[in-house]
Amino acid sequence: MKKVCIVTGSSRGIGKGIAMAFAKEGARIVINYCSHDADARETADEITKQHHAEVEIVKADVSKEEEVIEMIKNIKDRFGTVDILINNAGIHKDSMVWKMNSSFWNEVMSTNLTGAFLCTKHVLPIMREKLWGRIVNISSVVGQIGTFGTCNYAASKSGLFGFTKGVAKEVADKNITVNCVALGYIDAGMNLRLPEEIRQKALQDIPMKRFGKIGEVTDLVVFLCTSEASSYITGQVIHINGGYYM
Ligand SMILES: NC(=O)c1ccc[n+]([C@@H]2O[C@H](COP(=O)([O-])OP(=O)(O)OC[C@H]3O[C@@H](n4cnc5c(N)ncnc54)[C@H](OP(=O)(O)O)[C@@H]3O)[C@@H](O)[C@H]2O)c1
Repeated sequence: MKKVCIVTGSSRGIGKGIAMAFAKEGARIVINYCSHDADARETADEITKQHHAEVEIVKADVSKEEEVIEMIKNIKDRFGTVDILINNAGIHKDSMVWKMNSSFWNEVMSTNLTGAFLCTKHVLPIMREKLWGRIVNISSVVGQIGTFGTCNYAASKSGLFGFTKGVAKEVADKNITVNCVALGYIDAGMNLRLPEEIRQKALQDIPMKRFGKIGEVTDLVVFLCTSEASSYITGQVIHINGGYYM
């Protein structure tokens, strides 16, 4: 596969794992991030060394339309097209709602939800023209059950459910699938930075009594984007959470 795959927020954490998995499949990879240059450089080097993949690093804040437009232009200049978009970039800024600063609300919504909108908006003309595309939006179990202090994050992540379904209907006749993967607690990224007591409490509540492995996430995402067997799956929210939410 020589598909061109953009993974937003792929300089570290889950996005890095997804980018590595697509590189292993032979894809050309776009590493996107917003602030930490060294992480992006390291990830790109690792991908090149391990999988000899072609990699483009693009620093762009997905919440800013002009930066997204510039990112897509750079990718078209380098690779000529876009086949796969993984809307993975995400942040959390936690607070009880009655104490929440509006900036916390706005930053989380604009990265997690508006970011997915902007990247989707600007890759779809390319996918519509070539009559093929795969989009996966990375959501969270928190958007399904809610947790204390994360109403902004939960709203952004459940917003992705409706966004996925609406877009999936609009592009289904162009051979473009759009799905959403709602992750439980995964052994990577922001989960590793949570306070230990919260991680232990989550573990007690997960029927499988363990966190998800990054490979379990990447296998699903790669399947949705590369396998012929997934070509009739669109507009779905797929849960991968060890039974935490059923
Ligand atoms: N880890 C989990 O257990 C878990 C569970 C459920 C859902 N998720 C979801 O999985 C996704 C990845 O999370 P993670 O745990 O891997 O988080 P992470 O380790 O914090 O990584 C976040 C990535 O997003 C980038 N990023 C942040 N803001 C951005 C922006 N405005 N524009 C472009 N890139 C941006 C970061 O790079 P810079 O910092 O350099 O910008 C980084 O590459 C998120 O959507 C998260 O909600 C994670």
